[in-house]
Amino acid sequence: MNVPRYFALIPAAGVGARMQLGSPKQYAMLAGKPMLQHVMETFARASHITHTYVVVSAADVYVDDLPFIAGTTVLRCGGATRRESVMNGLAAIAAEVSAEDWMLVHDAARPGLTVPLIEQLIAALKDDAVGGLLALPVVDTLKRANGQGRVDATVSRDALWAAQTPQMFRHATLLQALQQADAVTDEASAMEALGLQPKLVEGHARNFKVTLPQDLLLAELYLKGRYEDNTPI
Ligand code: C5P
Repeated sequence: MNVPRYFALIPAAGVGARMQLGSPKQYAMLAGKPMLQHVMETFARASHITHTYVVVSAADVYVDDLPFIAGTTVLRCGGATRRESVMNGLAAIAAEVSAEDWMLVHDAARPGLTVPLIEQLIAALKDDAVGGLLALPVVDTLKRANGQGRVDATVSRDALWAAQTPQMFRHATLLQALQQADAVTDEASAMEALGLQPKLVEGHARNFKVTLPQDLLLAELYLKGRYEDNTPI
């Protein structure tokens, strides 16, 4: 059997409605570059990654303005949901990857990802039977709301983690899992529905998902902050 390779797949076909921008949030300018470009460049710098695929919607009028990045291909096959975009992307590259190759699926909306975080994920999972994801242990006290904006209950945060991306699974199993899943919001949930237990690999706060307008400032602070590719993050 061939040694499994590592591919990145970046779903970037969302509209980012909560960001209240004129254009999709993955093109918001951060530290002088569109958010998506930061993510593409990070994967291009990661020596483990054989190739990166970016999934945009067929109607995307912004992606052609990004600079050419070696080892990166844009696929115009985005779907109505994140799950559909990832599934369409995986199906589109089925002839170019092997069933056992690893896919690192990463949100375009997480521009704080670094090469060391990618390397930590790969090191933790390369010999794993299932795969897994970057995630962070929950540190805040959790409240369940009652529908009127009041606390119904305090939920134990014991053993709770917040899922990040990349989420790293083998191509064929992941595609099958997503095809069988209903309304999942990440790849791990689809794998869990198959009865598998993805491994949690500790990520970093800088890899948060840019969602609201006020998140842009924090993302920019992280992106402008100095870090070297050989530091822990
Ligand atoms: O909207 P949200 O921030 O949860 O989206 C997470 C990622 O999924 C983003 O990178 C977004 O562009 C992508 N997405 C997609 N296709 C959709 C919806 C979201 O590729 N239909």
